[in-house]
Amino acid sequence: MLYSVLAVGDVVGEAGLAHLERHLRPLQKLKHISFTVVNGENISGVGLTCKQAWRVYDAGADAVTLGNHTFGKMEICRMLDETPWLLRPANLSGRMPGHGCEIFDLNGLRFRVVNLIGRCTLQWNAENPFTLADRLLKQGTADFTLVDFHAEATSEKRAMGYYLAGRVSAVVGTHTHVTTADEQVIDGTGYITDVGMTGPKDSILGVEKDIIIERFLTYYPKRHRFAEGDIELNGVLMDIDTKTGECGSIERYRQIIRSV
Ligand code: FE2
Repeated sequence: MLYSVLAVGDVVGEAGLAHLERHLRPLQKLKHISFTVVNGENISGVGLTCKQAWRVYDAGADAVTLGNHTFGKMEICRMLDETPWLLRPANLSGRMPGHGCEIFDLNGLRFRVVNLIGRCTLQWNAENPFTLADRLLKQGTADFTLVDFHAEATSEKRAMGYYLAGRVSAVVGTHTHVTTADEQVIDGTGYITDVGMTGPKDSILGVEKDIIIERFLTYYPKRHRFAEGDIELNGVLMDIDTKTGECGSIERYRQIIRSV
């Protein structure tokens, strides 16, 4: 038997969240999705509020992962310790609130989700994500394991994909907001360097284009504003074998809703 698993890329802004609320459940129904992971760390731009986290969950996410903007809205700290479905990178300091590895019940099977952050250009003094992944995989057993590797460098993400190949069901990259075209199955592990984002399409990573262009012209810091207009949802769909935990197929999914 196969389970369909959906990983949705970084949700950006209220418009991205509203899109998720309208379209995630119909998509889950259409594609017979059994488990959905959503990266939600950019819903407030930098971080997300408790209310926004609940809205992602209520929209149909089984697990919500975060990344370098985990603590962008400090109120989220009170949820991180007590909410099993809300994960921050496991390789941040253990003294920080929250956890980065959780096992979910999926019809009696154990579905493990691991959130890790990369160390190339993301300055969090994070523990080595490769060796921590080794340790986490040794702690307890699971029928499936999905790793959301929130990282900047394509090299680091691909290295993680090959490093964990054959040991986990999926390694999906997040953070860079631009979908890569390298989805593949490596020794039974579904892999993509970046899932892409869910937010304003005509934008630079969800932000108004002119602000970012001006930033590159002048390097003068300016407040970011979310772009408006058409919204895109980007994710990957994976088929995972319930007997072996192996991924049989991975495909990119992109949905664009025109603004009216
Ligand atoms: Fe990020």
